[in-house]
Amino acid sequence: MRNNVVIAIDGYSSCGKSTLAKALAKKLGFIYIDSGAMYRAVTLFFIRNKVNINNDAEVAEALKQIDLNFHSRDYESHILLNGEEVSEEIRQMPVSENVSAVSAHKLVRHDMVCQQHRMGQEKNIVMDGRDIGTAVFNDAQVKFFMTADPKIRAERRFKELQAKGDKNITLEEVFENLAHRDYADTTRQESPLTRASDAIILDNTNLSQEEQLDFAYNHVKPFLTREI
Ligand code: C5P
Repeated sequence: MRNNVVIAIDGYSSCGKSTLAKALAKKLGFIYIDSGAMYRAVTLFFIRNKVNINNDAEVAEALKQIDLNFHSRDYESHILLNGEEVSEEIRQMPVSENVSAVSAHKLVRHDMVCQQHRMGQEKNIVMDGRDIGTAVFNDAQVKFFMTADPKIRAERRFKELQAKGDKNITLEEVFENLAHRDYADTTRQESPLTRASDAIILDNTNLSQEEQLDFAYNHVKPFLTREI
């Protein structure tokens, strides 16, 4: 039995997992950990250093050179790759296009999962990703599995990228990237994305951010020592 509370949020790409995870962490005073940012930062390192993911020795050596750190400002999580703030760069298309292949590598997964385990040892956390409820914390007290209509997901992501000034990308390209990542993430050998049997399904196609937060909070409430 763990003494801390772990909330696991898994689901397809661009379902709003991080939006819910951040809002929930803020409401509960928990620590938010974006596991996808870790795989993205590793991918950025691999791209910059031309690491060949088909060469296990090269991958193992590269992982030794990577130091990841989070720092949080008002529940916006920022990730540092060897001391450099890379939170913006890891959201851009070169990383999005390669992250599923990098994250499917067993050595990469092993390394990230070990780090994630350490982060959830003592503190109350909300962690989002693809394998949190199934592999990283299969003993999490509350697990959500998020989904939404693929077209709506692509539109949301597209708007987000446009707002950040990424004007070169089309809605079709975003849709294709999400479809590709969903396929790769659900069919890979190493801890594929799948719903844990005890995960609560949250389809937010027609839900506002407030509604999904209420839905999630009501499920978490029984595990809190005091109501918020
Ligand atoms: O959550 P986000 O979309 O930023 O994750 C990027 C990619 O990282 C996913 O498409 C998936 O390939 C990988 N990932 C993973 N396991 C996690 C979190 C993310 O394999 N726990």
